[in-house]
Amino acid sequence: MQEWIHMLPKAELHMHIEGSLEPELMFQLAERNGIELPYASVAELKAHYDFNNLQEFLDIYYLGCDVLRTEADFYDLAWAYLQRAREDHVVHTEIFFDPQSHTDRGIAFETVINGLYRAFKDGESQLGISFHIIACFLRHLPEQAALDLYPEILKHRDKIIGIGLDSSELGHPPEKYLRVFQQAKQDGFKVVAHAGEEGPAEYVRQAIDLLAVDRIDHGNRCLDDEFLTAQIAQKGLALTVCPLSNLKLKVVKDLALHPIKTMLHKGLLATINSDDPAYFGGYINDNFKQLADAVGLSEDEIFTLVENSFKASFLPDDIKSIHLKALNAFG
Ligand code: ADE
Ligand code: ZN
Repeated sequence: MQEWIHMLPKAELHMHIEGSLEPELMFQLAERNGIELPYASVAELKAHYDFNNLQEFLDIYYLGCDVLRTEADFYDLAWAYLQRAREDHVVHTEIFFDPQSHTDRGIAFETVINGLYRAFKDGESQLGISFHIIACFLRHLPEQAALDLYPEILKHRDKIIGIGLDSSELGHPPEKYLRVFQQAKQDGFKVVAHAGEEGPAEYVRQAIDLLAVDRIDHGNRCLDDEFLTAQIAQKGLALTVCPLSNLKLKVVKDLALHPIKTMLHKGLLATINSDDPAYFGGYINDNFKQLADAVGLSEDEIFTLVENSFKASFLPDDIKSIHLKALNAFG
């Protein structure tokens, strides 16, 4: 079963490229850029990867971003992820990046997007992995900061399919970003938002009713509201679920208590993703395998989750059909 999971062609829909920065690469980039890290070794850095909540993780994640300075750094970061994704038989990926975590340090938006885009184009031609890029706003910052950044995103709309909302959820409800999301929607961007990771079901409702999201990132807490859960299922809105992230950030106490089966039984279009694989101890196949073991997923359930990854992607319908046909050869 583990080998079968490994071989299935799959799509990844929730992965922060900055969260794929492995400690070894962090040290290499620090040296290349003449930056002194506040850790003596990879082992010392990894010793800090023990989080009690989302904020404790984010504090370390933003510190890690500081080694990313040049276009080559962003290229190397994305290229390393792509190599790992190919090993896991990812054939399509829709990745997030956090522009403000770089522009606020004085790194030009162009430097970031050009490095990432060049790597993903090379991944497409050399590794056969298609991609979409989603630019996320940091919700702990004011909406005005998102509005100020928005023209940069618009300038690169040929490279960016959508906008998202991430960072510290509690105290930063989706309604805070109404104007910038309305503008993005009007300009034809896909829109997604992290909601219901630590925040309440009400934030998931706002993401749907106010921001008109095309997908919900995480969404776990929607299960607290039966009516909302039924609405999400009925609309066919996808949830990009991240099991190892949920475990490491204590969204679930134990992987055996993960609500993935409940999500599927309630008819939700749930998908499995790695979120920040360098920090949470595993890439997409690790998420599938550890979750399958912990909650006892059947082959049918695993197959449904992988099918959902293509159905919930932002690929055109004809390309989705090609992927689903190829997947069926493994069914
Ligand atoms: N940024 C990177 N990973 C995140 C997560 N799991 N939740 C919110 N913001 C994030
Ligand atoms: Zn995330």
